[in-house]
Amino acid sequence: MDEVMLLTISHQETDFKDTLRGAVHDIAYSTFSRLPHPIPYQGSKRNLASMILAVIQGKRFRRFYEPFAGSAAMTIAACHAKVADAFILGDSLAPLMSIWNQILTAPHTLANTYEKIWESQLDDDEGYYYRIRDEFNQFYDPTKLLYLLARCVKNAPRFNQQGQFNQSVDKRRLGMRPDKMRHEILAASTLLAKHATVVWADFETTLKDATVTDLVYLDPPYEGTTTGDNKRYHQGLERERLISALENLNRRGVPFLLSYDGQCGNKVYGSELPASLHLTRLELNAGRSSQATLNGREEMTIESLYVSSNLVGIEALAR
Ligand SMILES: C[S@@+](CC[C@H](N)C(=O)[O-])C[C@H]1O[C@@H](n2cnc3c(N)ncnc32)[C@H](O)[C@@H]1O
Repeated sequence: MDEVMLLTISHQETDFKDTLRGAVHDIAYSTFSRLPHPIPYQGSKRNLASMILAVIQGKRFRRFYEPFAGSAAMTIAACHAKVADAFILGDSLAPLMSIWNQILTAPHTLANTYEKIWESQLDDDEGYYYRIRDEFNQFYDPTKLLYLLARCVKNAPRFNQQGQFNQSVDKRRLGMRPDKMRHEILAASTLLAKHATVVWADFETTLKDATVTDLVYLDPPYEGTTTGDNKRYHQGLERERLISALENLNRRGVPFLLSYDGQCGNKVYGSELPASLHLTRLELNAGRSSQATLNGREEMTIESLYVSSNLVGIEALAR
């Protein structure tokens, strides 16, 4: 297995590190790469999902929570790996959760409507994308959002101060073809429909019923993307609010994994979380940065994964 995939740990838990090497190695040969992924979404954890799940070393939970779901890459991987009996995916972006609702309850309708919207675009008519964008910003139709995500620059949702989608069209490609989209939607629906619940809510509301028997995976907007020029999602998250929510999970004994901060080349996004949270920080090597490669540089992206203390001793607990 490629050395790039191995984990390093900033603390001294060498036993945990060795165990993880084995777990990551085993899981790398599984079928994760063929999992469905219907919503193209910048920041998707699709490529890191197997490494992130390796941390729990095969343990099972009652429910798996993904309260910053986006494209729900972790829920898809966790459901495939049967990590829990039930899966709760939440996000505060309402039309995104409507897409998920349709994937679970009316996948053929969603695929048909996407096909109609996609087929109506012509190769050289950028104006079509902007007309759909205007319509979306008026009525928030979820299928129009799916088309915009598939067709926009870097599949990266961007919103202005008024909450309107304002990302530009990618002129070089037409977005995911309808036959592929149908395949992805139906496969995701088959995998998740009987096990998953969709919630349109702020993450703290989604997590209010989580208990010691559940596992939470959090992937909030990173600190560096919440304010200033690099603002990304329709809503950012202040660091203090995240820390207080994590303290709350610790008090309730809810096991969690958190993706937060990272590094690309020499550029560091966000600072480490406080030691008082008793988290173990792993560094996941997410491979070469495609943006840097485009700009002629070779840079690796490193993402931090924080593991709650009740998961670090997981092997010992299981014995
Ligand atoms: C980094 S993305 C998650 C990407 C996801 N892990 C995936 O695989 O696609 C962060 C998500 O958090 C959502 N979000 C931002 N603030 C939120 C909040 N307060 N509560 C719930 N969701 C929020 C955004 O809409 C966005 O979809």
